Amino acid sequence: MERRLITVPLGPLESNMYLITGDTGIFVVDPSVSPERAEEYCDLPGLSKGECHVRALLLTHGHHDHIKYVNEWQDAYPTAKIFFSSNDRDLLGNGYMNCSYMEGYEVIYDFKYSNLAGMYGQNLVKEEDISIKVYETPGHTMGSVCFLVTIDGEDMLFTGDTVFRGSVGRTDMPGGSGKDIMKSVKRISKLDPGLKIYPGHGPDSTLGDEIRFNPFFSM
Ligand SMILES: [Fe+2]
Repeated sequence: MERRLITVPLGPLESNMYLITGDTGIFVVDPSVSPERAEEYCDLPGLSKGECHVRALLLTHGHHDHIKYVNEWQDAYPTAKIFFSSNDRDLLGNGYMNCSYMEGYEVIYDFKYSNLAGMYGQNLVKEEDISIKVYETPGHTMGSVCFLVTIDGEDMLFTGDTVFRGSVGRTDMPGGSGKDIMKSVKRISKLDPGLKIYPGHGPDSTLGDEIRFNPFFSM
């Protein structure tokens, strides 16, 4: 069977980058790994040379360990759209806020994006084989979002640093809010319990398992 989802767990702080391969091209969730390294890891010849038709980069939030290679992906695929919430715009221009300082240097990001702020529950893509919907889930950062991707009838929720298997993202960094992340968890818990969850770090899960075993879902 054709591969539809590839996890690339090679970003800084072991962040996960995901490649969703639809019939009409590839969507990248959190470009935290370079196109060259991803090409080698995924065995997708031509990926780094702009030959694979990457349609869009979906950014779950503005932390460096999730967006480190956004410029390299954009250089290889200049027509790819970047989806990002302007509620995290302050992180882009500040190496402390985007946490790049943790790697010993500060990175300032300056890219154009399609703004996700205010788009809760709306479709970014709606086509025969794939649809992508955005859910704003502030808490880890103000502009954190989750992406609900349906491909060939299978639903997958990419949660960034909002929900991990058994936990949630930290809220003690700039823009974080413990109160907001709990509200976001409540919103997510109303989705289909059979939903597969793909976090920004660590293993995947299902919403049903998180509702049962993740203590933050029963607070
Ligand atoms: Fe983060």
